[in-house]
Amino acid sequence: MSIDKKALIEDRVNTGLLGQWYPVAKSVEVKTTKPHGVKLLGQKLVLWRKGDGSINCVEDFCPHRGAPLSYGEIHEGNIGCRYHGVIVNGEGVVVRVPAMPECAMEGRKALKNFHVTEHSDAVFVYIPSLTQPEPPELVMPPELVGDDWTGFLCTSVWETNYRYALDNLADPMHGCYLHSESFTLAYGSKQDLMKLDKTDNGFHVTRVGQVGDNFDWAEFAVFPGNMYCFLDIPYPPAAGPGGNMRIVGFTTPVDETTCKVFFWRLRKVEGIARDSWRFLYRAQLEERHWNVLEQDRVMLEGMPDDARKREMLYQHDLGVSRIRQILTRAAKEQIEAELAVAAE
Ligand code: FES
Ligand SMILES: [Fe+2]
Repeated sequence: MSIDKKALIEDRVNTGLLGQWYPVAKSVEVKTTKPHGVKLLGQKLVLWRKGDGSINCVEDFCPHRGAPLSYGEIHEGNIGCRYHGVIVNGEGVVVRVPAMPECAMEGRKALKNFHVTEHSDAVFVYIPSLTQPEPPELVMPPELVGDDWTGFLCTSVWETNYRYALDNLADPMHGCYLHSESFTLAYGSKQDLMKLDKTDNGFHVTRVGQVGDNFDWAEFAVFPGNMYCFLDIPYPPAAGPGGNMRIVGFTTPVDETTCKVFFWRLRKVEGIARDSWRFLYRAQLEERHWNVLEQDRVMLEGMPDDARKREMLYQHDLGVSRIRQILTRAAKEQIEAELAVAAE
């Protein structure tokens, strides 16, 4: 039987690349007192926090009969199934079957477990690939590593494939149309050309005729174990000191028709200006930014899943084409490695 490699690659892009760290939750959502269920690349996972603060993540599937462990309870750092009480630890090993003395399930490694790390108020899970079974470094944007910037993480679930969210970020030209009614994005010309430049780790896509008036450019940084995007939203003087607002975005594939976006909204401010920006953000700006994000969500959710089969790209879609090419190349490498092993 011949294998349709192209279809496998397309399918891998659509589901989400393996060998990646993906943010799945805000740190505050993962507690020591109750489990937290998530979906990532179509797989249901459960997370919970141990007493030492570290986080466990295993398949959300009870080894007994498949009940969701995320409906269960935490027992001394392990997770107990709500259905008949089976207890599993963070390595996915059954530690106790309370209903049945000396049950043969005890001590069995029954579930896959996943590496977890936390950064900047978000919980990241590593999904291994054949060639990268162990997680490479999670490379975070400099804005979230140093102390110069301060900001807020917002997350949202969008009922659309994650590729649309990435396409949207790689497409600065939509700012002055889709967001033309908004606080800071109403400015600038509605006609332009786009330019794409390679960077050390990815690419920078920008309007040619206008920079600094609107959402005019976006940059993608791509590493062996993760990717993210950043862009600036110009701020008028009314928004206080600190210059533009920088958005750093990660996009997580939940399943083929759902994604979760993680956006940090940041400003480079210190001292009193830092406090006043944080206050202003909470009091006034946050709601405005939500309105902008909702415009993106509604637009993307309204597009058919297979829109790309009939679309007609033009010069402005340089960034869209490049992000797709990056995903397709990575998926091709993964599928080829898997096929090579399967053929051995
Ligand atoms: S299904 Fe979980 S204990 Fe039975
Ligand atoms: Fe947008």
